Amino acid sequence: METNYPLLELEKTTIGTAEGNTFAYFILNIEDTSKMLTIIAEPCNEESDPDIYVSRTTSQVTQGDFYIDNYMWKSTNIGPDKLQIHPEDGEFKPGIYYIGIYAYKPGLNTFSVVYNQESIPESLDLKESSEGLLEKWKYFKFRIENPGESRIEITVSPGYGYLQLYVSTNLYYPNEDEHTWSSGVYVVNRLTDPEDFVMELGNYFDPDPYDEIIKRNFTRKPGLMELDKMVKIVDKTQEPLRFCIDTDDWKYSNQMCYVGIKNLEDEPVSFKITLREVLEENLLTGMIAEKLDIFKRVFDKVEGSSISQNERKRMKVSGKSEFTYGEIDFVHMAPVFGLCKPQAGEVFWDLGCGVGKCMGAIALLYPELKRVSGVEYLDKLYEACSSTMNHLKTFMSPGPEIEVKHGSMLEVDWSDADILFSSSICFPNELIDGILEKCHSLKKGAKFITLKSFPENNIFEVKYSIRVKMTWGKTGVYVLEKIV
Ligand SMILES: C[S@@+](CC[C@H](N)C(=O)[O-])C[C@H]1O[C@@H](n2cnc3c(N)ncnc32)[C@H](O)[C@@H]1O
Repeated sequence: METNYPLLELEKTTIGTAEGNTFAYFILNIEDTSKMLTIIAEPCNEESDPDIYVSRTTSQVTQGDFYIDNYMWKSTNIGPDKLQIHPEDGEFKPGIYYIGIYAYKPGLNTFSVVYNQESIPESLDLKESSEGLLEKWKYFKFRIENPGESRIEITVSPGYGYLQLYVSTNLYYPNEDEHTWSSGVYVVNRLTDPEDFVMELGNYFDPDPYDEIIKRNFTRKPGLMELDKMVKIVDKTQEPLRFCIDTDDWKYSNQMCYVGIKNLEDEPVSFKITLREVLEENLLTGMIAEKLDIFKRVFDKVEGSSISQNERKRMKVSGKSEFTYGEIDFVHMAPVFGLCKPQAGEVFWDLGCGVGKCMGAIALLYPELKRVSGVEYLDKLYEACSSTMNHLKTFMSPGPEIEVKHGSMLEVDWSDADILFSSSICFPNELIDGILEKCHSLKKGAKFITLKSFPENNIFEVKYSIRVKMTWGKTGVYVLEKIV
């Protein structure tokens, strides 16, 4: 394919520009495919965010909503991007490579682009575990079979000595400078300012009460707790490094997991690494698994999103943000209910219950509740919720009373609630103000789980502020308690 794209030369940086949402094109010529190809694109200023798309077969690489995805490789991080094509990649063949640099930011994006080729260190395909002697570095790769449904558990046991572990979702050879996650003994002098360290940890720390339902028994990501771990290893207790990457953290990454292990000792050390992919559903405790099974049977064929979409059109409320649809996730909502300590005889309300997923989840998890109620405005969602709740009741005896009201949450009496939930993230301020006004008649001690915070008031205290997974991703959730 003849093009007049600029030819990139090995290790020579080229500056390019592209208007927002368009591509600038380059070519490069690869003769030697025994060496890994690395292409780096970096923004030259804050108004720039270049992404890399590469093809060997199509000169006009495109992607996105308006174009066909016709690239073979891509790297689309925020900020600088680095794309590596490995000799083992079946598509890595000699010839011309077409590089499309996509300007992600609006306006003129100015960027630099450079490529190099390096001999590769050895990288082992890890089936499950590997052991041996570690000189300085060893690299492994591991295929993830069920991204989005499984978590990755890595265990490294040093026979003796201090090790560091680096994990990446897209770099073949993760190291100190480039990795997605790391664990192990940190060389203290790299952390010149303790403040930086704490700040970095702050980004990692996620007060998700996940452990109650899906046991980890693994260090999650480097977090404050990691300090203890480091001390333990420094003490040479020979406790293995146990490291877990949660399902959600891997969800949007590619299917390969790349691991680098570094030996900090002067002598080689013996070591063993075990990598396991564990399906999340296999980690649930027996009771929860049974209840999730019923939940799935009841809800699997109920298409809340499309019912809502059709109803919004039909009832001519498409422009109203409060009708935006999204649902809770059973497993991730369970510990949030736990924070409210539901008691026998209590009443739960979901304000804007959709097809009733939140009602179904709490009814299954806390059958000792007196009543589970919900209110929904959209006609067909209300109908779907009513029939779904009837279906649920066939699996529950005894169980709480279940009641679905049709209408506006501002016109229904929910003052008997002990625990309330409202997936209020898209509710306009007037609706939130209206809810808050009605909350004055709730009893003291009532708990309110809300996605949108309430305006300043003197009736609620924020008990917890957490991040919880919903169908659209993780979102902030407040658990409030009525104090008057
Ligand atoms: C984000 S969805 C949450 C569905 C469900 N609670 C869940 O989490 O799985 C919010 C729901 O609130 C409903 N809604 C919005 N405004 C409402 C109002 N004023 N009264 C009753 N329902 C309302 C919407 O139609 C929608 O079904």
